[in-house]
Amino acid sequence: MAKKSYYITTFGCQMNVSDSERIASMLSSLDYVPASNLEDADLALVNMCSVRQTAVDRVHGLAKKFREIREKNKKFTAILTGCVLKKDSQKLCKIFDYVIDVREIKDLAKFLGSKSFDSIDHYLQIAPAHQSKFSANVPIMTGCNNFCTYCVVPYTRNRETSRPAKEIVAEITKLVKKGYKEIWLLGQNVNSYHGLILSKKGWTSFSELLEMIEEIPGEFWVRFTSSHPKDFNEKVIKTTASCKKVTPYLNLPVQSGDNAILKKMNRRYKVSDYKALIKKARKEIPNLCLSTDIIVGFPGETQKQFENTAKLFREVGYDMAYINKYSPRPGTAAEKLNDNVSKEEKKNREKILTEILKETALENNKKIVGKETVVLIDSKTNDGWLGKNDQYKTVKIKSNGQKKDLVGKFVNVKITKAMEWALEGEIK
Ligand code: SAH
Ligand code: SF4
Ligand code: F3S
Repeated sequence: MAKKSYYITTFGCQMNVSDSERIASMLSSLDYVPASNLEDADLALVNMCSVRQTAVDRVHGLAKKFREIREKNKKFTAILTGCVLKKDSQKLCKIFDYVIDVREIKDLAKFLGSKSFDSIDHYLQIAPAHQSKFSANVPIMTGCNNFCTYCVVPYTRNRETSRPAKEIVAEITKLVKKGYKEIWLLGQNVNSYHGLILSKKGWTSFSELLEMIEEIPGEFWVRFTSSHPKDFNEKVIKTTASCKKVTPYLNLPVQSGDNAILKKMNRRYKVSDYKALIKKARKEIPNLCLSTDIIVGFPGETQKQFENTAKLFREVGYDMAYINKYSPRPGTAAEKLNDNVSKEEKKNREKILTEILKETALENNKKIVGKETVVLIDSKTNDGWLGKNDQYKTVKIKSNGQKKDLVGKFVNVKITKAMEWALEGEIK
């Protein structure tokens, strides 16, 4: 009998991508095979994101497709998991056969008639089927206790839970032995990592975890996301600076450059605290590449308040930024506030910040021209390779007749040209 096939659709952040890798490995151990597209699958899994309404709409948009598939394949089953709000779940039940909380994803095995995952304490213990052969996602914690007033994550992923440091170190050691070159430590708020006791010292902090990972033998890079400015402290800066494997790339979401808006967002820092942090980080970590997350058009954000964000944006001079238009989310504290910045104005504010970002990113990239940088090659292109350097900047490399397969390898590259979102270079 032909094996049953599955297809996973993933929306949202790297954490969801990582969860999908766990779901894929579960399904293959239950004898399912991946389908090349949704239409051919017997089992469709959708890993949902609820951070903005547009992400939720995409899942509703699958209804028509599912109806068409069901007409041809009566046994077709659709399962929803990931970050799902209760309110959406009631409606989405009509499109999906089952909705499973991602933390209870082992129930998927039971549903498919197997007890093989019963012994697992936490879903993060399910060994993932990594999509890449050289870059791996390793969640260190999940959930969030911060309750920023606009955000659904504390509702969809619940409170913070950290994985034991020993388990994380063992997982990374195995990955490095297999040849992995880039390890992404993931969590909604990695700086508040609070791992189970490994020694008599008590709880393992994020800095201690980084130091433990640094000790793992082998040549590899460590990256982490996301950080919260209220928890990203001097100790983490010093550790990032002193650990050679920890790369000089930092995503430090500021969300707004206005104190009154930050207060309404419940971010628990002031613009001056943020600026002081950046100053310290830049002083300690040479070549630091900085990215941020911003929300434009938060309820009540005046022109002046937006200008404060634009001012901070220019002052910091980011290399990259994820600029988001505010989207009211059901059940959050900000839902009660008047979403009074028009769609057009949100778009306009997004555009202004994007223009500033283009300038600062190009300015920063120009400073790298003529310098040498290490690049981890991601993929082959028509005339060379594409990769990311230690700062997480995209580097396009001309092959110059080189035929060797460099994908997944570290190479030394001399930067010859700077663009806004990428660098160009030659292999040394
Ligand atoms: N834990 C991370 C981010 C998680 S969500 C942090 O604290 O920064 C990823 C990004 O989505 C956020 O940084 C924010 O910029 C954006 N976001 C979250 N809720 C949003 C909303 N309601 N509308 C628009 N953007 C939102
Ligand atoms: Fe959401 Fe704030 Fe938690 Fe980030 S820190 S996940 S923005 S509640
Ligand atoms: Fe979305 Fe959940 Fe990530 S809401 S951004 S998938 S944590």
